[in-house]
Amino acid sequence: MKKSKTLSLAVVLIALGISSPATADMNPPLAALGPVPVPADNPQTPAKIALGKLLFFDTRIGGDASVSCADCHMPKQGWGFNDPISRGYPGVIHWRNSQTVVNSAYLGKLFWAGSAKSLEAQAPGAALGAVSGNGERDMVEARLAFIPEYVKRFRDVFGDDWPKVNNVWKAMAAFERTLIHDQTPFDKFMRGDKDALSAEQKHGLRLFQGKANCIECHNGPLMTDQKFYNLGVPRAEDWLENGMAQITFRYEQYAKGTTEKLYRTIKDDAGLYYRTKEKSDMGKFRTPPLRYIAYTAPYMHNGSFFDFDEIVEFYNEGGGSNDFTDGKFAKNKTKLLKPLNLSDKEKVALVAFLEALSGKEIKMSTPKLPLYAPLPAATN
Ligand code: HEC
Ligand code: HEC
Repeated sequence: MKKSKTLSLAVVLIALGISSPATADMNPPLAALGPVPVPADNPQTPAKIALGKLLFFDTRIGGDASVSCADCHMPKQGWGFNDPISRGYPGVIHWRNSQTVVNSAYLGKLFWAGSAKSLEAQAPGAALGAVSGNGERDMVEARLAFIPEYVKRFRDVFGDDWPKVNNVWKAMAAFERTLIHDQTPFDKFMRGDKDALSAEQKHGLRLFQGKANCIECHNGPLMTDQKFYNLGVPRAEDWLENGMAQITFRYEQYAKGTTEKLYRTIKDDAGLYYRTKEKSDMGKFRTPPLRYIAYTAPYMHNGSFFDFDEIVEFYNEGGGSNDFTDGKFAKNKTKLLKPLNLSDKEKVALVAFLEALSGKEIKMSTPKLPLYAPLPAATN
């Protein structure tokens, strides 16, 4: 009962005015990952998960039947895509870095700018969106209806006579809820295995929560507060010369309803701004969770950093500057970043801690996908 004693002591100290509420109102503490949340209207069943796995790897969910979720969330590339900017469907590329789907089942805000609230709500955007899938719901349903194995599986799992596209998203979400990474050295340490981290990593953990103040935003079991900040992440090196990415980027300005002026002049991704149209949100992105990151380079919404050394250096300098920090379009740099004055030894320890946030790689090969029904044999 030591814990509750300390807690009540804190309450007494605050009441006496000896300790300030500000020190008691700490960031949610780091912790091992708990069980994955499952929505009441989409319970996990083995048959549903198996169906979702097939669909995740199946290109027939996308418009021209050539790109599957797994093509941009490749098991061998950290269940993401290891170019700074993700591929698109044929003929286009995306405009942002592809995120890993590992552990995304824990998130309440999906995407770099947090625009979807659940895996079920996110999947249609991915499969039907102009850049990633360009599919049509009725087309996807019709394709599935001519694959006898899917017809049977949708009937068994959902009772559908004709596979329903909404159940495609449900099955995929059930599969994604199995892509969980909760056995990292860090999680083991937090569950009580004191040897799971090296002395250097433990030093890194102390810095993470102390001098380096990463905990201010990367907190709680997920290591994200799911809030939005502009850190001053610099423009990725060849962003302006990458014609394909620029075409998508310009298209997105119109699609997301920015002004004509911005469409013509903006050079960088304004992040949360596209959702709120508030100048004060320009350049802000959701704090990402930090597990599995050993497999998901490059980092940040634009893939501008390639390793943990670069990232620690960036934070050590107090973040950076971009068009949304220097007043060109906005002046929104978070006040939470300050130069950290880390010694070389401390930088190495922090990097070692970041390495402890990934455990064994989640490997999976492409499953054998069911075939369309054969055409009826010619009768004459
Ligand atoms: C053409 C590439 C592409 C395809 C195809 C694609 N994605 Fe993505 N995915 C991305 C990119 C890029 C992002 C980040 C987008 C953003 O933030 O605007 C992303 C983000 C996500 C996220 C959010 C993760 C997080 O941390 O918030 C999930 C979940 C996801 N995709 C699942 C899927 C599923 C399921 C499919 C198939 C229906 C799919 N994706 C198809 C490129 C793709
Ligand atoms: C003010 C909030 C804040 C603080 C403090 C902070 N981060 Fe971040 N972190 C973010 C945001 C927001 C992003 C995404 C930025 C973007 O893409 O533009 C990010 C991205 C990252 C990434 C890349 C993850 C990925 O999947 O691409 C790593 C690694 C990281 N931070 C580690 C750290 C470390 C280590 C510290 C402490 C030295 C720290 N962060 C401090 C908010 C913060």
